Amino acid sequence: MNNILFLTLVCSLIFLNFQTSLSTDTLKPNQSFLDGFTLVSSNKRFEFGFFSPGNGSSGDRYLGIWYHNLSLTVVWVANRNYPIHDSFGKVSLDKNGVLTLYNRSLGTVWSTNNTPIESSFTPVLQLLDSGNLVIRDDGRNKTILWESFDFPADTLLPDSKLGWKLDDGLQRFIRSWKSIEDPSEGEYWFSLDPPEAPQLVLRSGSRKLFRWGPFDGIWFSGSSTLTANPLLQTMFVYNSKELYFKYEILDESVLSRIVISPTGSVQYFTWRVNISREWNLVVTFNSDPCDNYANCGNYGICYSLSSCKCLSGFTPDSPRDWGLFSYSGGCRRKHELSCGHGDGFVKYGALKLPDNPIVWGNDTDHVCEAKCLKNCSCMAYANVDVYGDGSRCVVWIGDLVDMKNFPDGREQIYIRMAHAELQSIAAAKRKRVTVKIVSVVTVIGILLLSGGAIWYLGWLVRHRREDEIGRSSKAQQSGSFRYVEDNQDSGFQLPIYDLETIDLACNNFSERNKIGQGGFGSVYRGELSNGQEIAVKRLVEKSTQGVEELKNEIILIAKLQHRNLVKLLGCCIEGDETMLVYEYLPNKSLNNFIYDKPTRKQLTWKKRYHIIKGIARGLLYLHQDSRLRIIHRDLKTSNILLDSELNPKISDFGIARIFGTDQMQEMTKRIIGTYGYMSPEYAMTGHYSVKSDVYSFGVIVLEIISGYKNWAFHHPDHDFNLLGHAWMLWNRRQPLETLDPVVQDPSFENQIIRCIHVALLCVQQYPEDRPKMSTVYAMLSYDNIELPEPKEPGFCRESYTKKLDTSAIDLSTVNEVTMTTLGGR
Ligand SMILES: *[C@@H]1O[C@H](CO)[C@@H](O)[C@H](O)[C@H]1NC(C)=O
Ligand SMILES: *[C@@H]1O[C@H](CO)[C@@H](O)[C@H](O)[C@H]1NC(C)=O
Ligand SMILES: *[C@@H]1O[C@H](CO)[C@@H](O)[C@H](O)[C@H]1NC(C)=O
Ligand SMILES: *[C@@H]1O[C@H](CO)[C@@H](O)[C@H](O)[C@H]1NC(C)=O
Ligand SMILES: *[C@@H]1O[C@H](CO)[C@@H](O)[C@H](O)[C@H]1NC(C)=O
Ligand SMILES: *[C@@H]1O[C@H](CO)[C@@H](O)[C@H](O)[C@H]1NC(C)=O
Ligand SMILES: *[C@@H]1O[C@H](CO)[C@@H](O)[C@H](O)[C@H]1NC(C)=O
Ligand SMILES: *[C@@H]1O[C@H](CO)[C@@H](O)[C@H](O)[C@H]1NC(C)=O
Repeated sequence: MNNILFLTLVCSLIFLNFQTSLSTDTLKPNQSFLDGFTLVSSNKRFEFGFFSPGNGSSGDRYLGIWYHNLSLTVVWVANRNYPIHDSFGKVSLDKNGVLTLYNRSLGTVWSTNNTPIESSFTPVLQLLDSGNLVIRDDGRNKTILWESFDFPADTLLPDSKLGWKLDDGLQRFIRSWKSIEDPSEGEYWFSLDPPEAPQLVLRSGSRKLFRWGPFDGIWFSGSSTLTANPLLQTMFVYNSKELYFKYEILDESVLSRIVISPTGSVQYFTWRVNISREWNLVVTFNSDPCDNYANCGNYGICYSLSSCKCLSGFTPDSPRDWGLFSYSGGCRRKHELSCGHGDGFVKYGALKLPDNPIVWGNDTDHVCEAKCLKNCSCMAYANVDVYGDGSRCVVWIGDLVDMKNFPDGREQIYIRMAHAELQSIAAAKRKRVTVKIVSVVTVIGILLLSGGAIWYLGWLVRHRREDEIGRSSKAQQSGSFRYVEDNQDSGFQLPIYDLETIDLACNNFSERNKIGQGGFGSVYRGELSNGQEIAVKRLVEKSTQGVEELKNEIILIAKLQHRNLVKLLGCCIEGDETMLVYEYLPNKSLNNFIYDKPTRKQLTWKKRYHIIKGIARGLLYLHQDSRLRIIHRDLKTSNILLDSELNPKISDFGIARIFGTDQMQEMTKRIIGTYGYMSPEYAMTGHYSVKSDVYSFGVIVLEIISGYKNWAFHHPDHDFNLLGHAWMLWNRRQPLETLDPVVQDPSFENQIIRCIHVALLCVQQYPEDRPKMSTVYAMLSYDNIELPEPKEPGFCRESYTKKLDTSAIDLSTVNEVTMTTLGGR
């Protein structure tokens, strides 16, 4: 009997123990723990308890969160400014859900500031798998009463928020430690502000050190490094309650954190579970000297290496101070403004937008322009998607500061200029542009001279634009006219050619004029009666759209203009025929250059690199243009044309789009593509995304580097295709052997290896392992971005040579034809 009682007692004790160890991520009301005890999140990733920072020499104890089972990396500190000087700290959760930290004499050192809740609730403290420490109601209502993610220390973990709670104005930002030994609040802090026009700002005290913004729907203006990691998905969230920036990590086996160091660097680190031995610094956000706040002064633009130039229309304030570094004098206008008397706007692009943007509602271009013109301190306006939900009218009051040259910048900013400046621009322009523009400008000049007709002119110019674009005009404003620096956005008219003209130009589509054949149709060379050479793509399939819709679509695509895209000149839609008319490029396509021994000798490494970057830029433009997101789906060397200066131009983009909606879905039954360039998921299941283009891009890069065609690649020692071959050499740490022997150049070895590395990342088996094009471009452009290790590429064993008797076929002529599989799978 006694024995049984004893056994029961032991059993229940064991059971009790078992229970406490199960719930080590939570603390119940009225429970407390002492220094030495910790909570561990259920995934064993984070730990909450007392620690000593640095090497612990000071003996101070802090309550905080760090990574479990890693060399001490603290992600959050509760009492950062109030250390406990001995190890008798105690932390407890009271019945009202308030967490308090006591010292040895039970004085309160720190406590959460949440309002106590009624006793009918059951609060618990829990350390979540994300590293967020929360106090929540444990009843049926799981309301969170307090969370550590609302009060970050120096670290942003995936999913923690940098930004604002709009109802109570709580701002979440990260602030540096004083030193690695001392977690108390240092001078540097990194935040998203103000809520009205979100920008990322790094400050020392109240002084701005670095700034990126405003947010433009995709990223923060001027901040390519922020989005430059394939594993990192940045997100901007705006709703009625909150406005914040956060990031997610796409690979569960990678730990990551963004931290602001005691010396004021905002850095992104990763750690591969079970592989890394230390934190890997992927990127330092504030590494571009041109991002140093306002280092070129008012109206100055920072170019790389922080050399400064004035915006056109401005001149250095005091030329003698104009050094290479840290110039602060700025620029002044060549012609002073005379508010309201003929001021107008000049468009600038490829800039990081200036600081202090103000949102003035969601009006269109013209209303925004009119509002800005009316207020004499309004120096510029732009249409920016600041909240990611549609364009806003953004204006700048007062002088413009902190701009840098940013070729990837997508916004145009319209800057107020004096009448005299507009005239001199017009005069300069007159010298170089076509007769048509000249006459318009002359008319403008005459009208301006006549003075009184300015109003009429503003009206006229705007109406012309609107009629052509087909938008209705909403508001009128006197005294304004708008000078557009380039024609890209102004009234756009797509020539519609009639069938007869095209027929004539292409010699009745004779075989002699045929210059290519692809999955979408044949291409013919032609010459219009005015002597202009054109390339005509005759589409084989009928679009599912109506003619008007098709025309609109073509206009949309013709508006996509970029130096790395072939220009669409017009179209011809008659009866069953749909034809697209492109500029004709006399130099052939890339595939005529790179596989051919004699011609590829002309392609030095520098030229190849130039081509690679050009293709990347063109593709980036297709993927990230905010109005259209175009997935090419048939990217291959024969679709890359080269102009006379060997600038690459992507052709055939937008054809998938023109064909109608069935193919714009994420999965298609009709697989269009070319073996060797198609990504595994697309070839096998028809799933595609921007990442399928990234795969094709990776293949092209390896082909450019090696001079071999992927699927026609043959090596006596193995059965791999080019991807497999490059991967094998990479693993043997001989990546340079992939390189075409005719371009060996020791001075570029690092760049070549980097290109191979990026290409291997692009051809990864799984789309989520492949970087986005913006990342690819950044990786190719900046040496300081650390690249993840590639895994085995997808489709690295498939090739022609396995199926065909290689002796019977001349590999250099293996035809590269776009395959169309109807009814795929
Ligand atoms: C916590 O302690 C208070 C006072 O000591 C008591 O009234 C309350 O019932 C306790 N709550 C729980 C959940 O044990
Ligand atoms: C701990 O770090 C401090 C500052 O870095 C240093 O001065 C001290 O010597 C270190 N102590 C030990 C025991 O390593
Ligand atoms: C914890 O770390 C030790 C040594 O650093 C290692 O041997 C052990 O496998 C790790 N445990 C887990 C769960 O990661
Ligand atoms: C404990 O904290 C209280 C209040 O903050 C303070 O007055 C007291 O001196 C502290 N005691 C010790 C031993 O630090
Ligand atoms: C949960 O509790 C909060 C605070 O008392 C209350 O505002 C909310 O309506 C409750 N939610 C539900 C679903 O009961
Ligand atoms: C890391 O190692 C631990 C222990 O060996 C294992 O349980 C865990 O699944 C591994 N994690 C990953 C992501 O491989
Ligand atoms: C613009 O703002 C007004 C009022 O703020 C709103 O009613 C309207 O729907 C908005 N328009 C667009 C296109 O967002
Ligand atoms: C111009 O706009 C600014 C900012 O909204 C405002 O403070 C100022 O009063 C305006 N000036 C005039 C003349 O309307």
